[in-house]
Amino acid sequence: MRRKLAAGNWKMNGSRAALYELAKMAETLPEDPPEVLICPPAPYIAHAIEMVGPSIMIGAQDCHTAEKGAHTGDIATPMIADLGASHVIVGHSERRTDHGESDSDVRAKADAGLKAGLTSIICIGESEAQYDAGETINVLNAQLRGSVPDDIDPYRTVIAYEPIWAIGTGKTPTLDEIASAHAAIRTTLTDRFGDRADAIRLLYGGSVKPGNASDIFGIPEVDGALVGGASLKADDFVPIITALSES
Ligand code: 13P
Repeated sequence: MRRKLAAGNWKMNGSRAALYELAKMAETLPEDPPEVLICPPAPYIAHAIEMVGPSIMIGAQDCHTAEKGAHTGDIATPMIADLGASHVIVGHSERRTDHGESDSDVRAKADAGLKAGLTSIICIGESEAQYDAGETINVLNAQLRGSVPDDIDPYRTVIAYEPIWAIGTGKTPTLDEIASAHAAIRTTLTDRFGDRADAIRLLYGGSVKPGNASDIFGIPEVDGALVGGASLKADDFVPIITALSES
């Protein structure tokens, strides 16, 4: 059985004051919650960890591939682990677009996360043009081939399927489309990693809200969500966590 994961990506949002939302989330979690993760902006990781205690895990949104060195402004995975954070998101479409990250960059970052003892959340997803052209599954397979390292620990490897056109738009694929994307991802991972792939969790991301979470979590092969906007406030994120715990 894969443990469910509700992950929040705050992107470049929040402030020290906004970290009180984390305390509110921790206080209002459902009984027997799934794993809950928040990835705040890097400057707030340490404060966030102090704020929440063990009920909410804290992660980073990106990392460098190297353990240390002359890379001004970058963050190494051993530093993220040193702070007490547990996860790192790699290959988010905003990183791929804003910073030109390739699949091989993402793969190296995922590898760096795993080597530092973190769980690497590897993001994949098609653009609107690729979706319209019916290329979704081919795109996902190519991204999986390019972005997932060979030497994974499946328990610390998470794949987040985030259609780019669904991020921050209020649009989502149909439930059938999410189901077939997740089924295809699972098949591709099983072809490559065999039974070990069973432990890899698959998250859906893109306009997950309290109103659509239950339906999405009812889909087989959806092990949780990577949530952007609706993870910023406890009033939005806790109902999503609750829907996951009830799924
Ligand atoms: P939204 O939930 O705001 O659409 O963002 C999804 C996302 O990009 C999470 O990484």
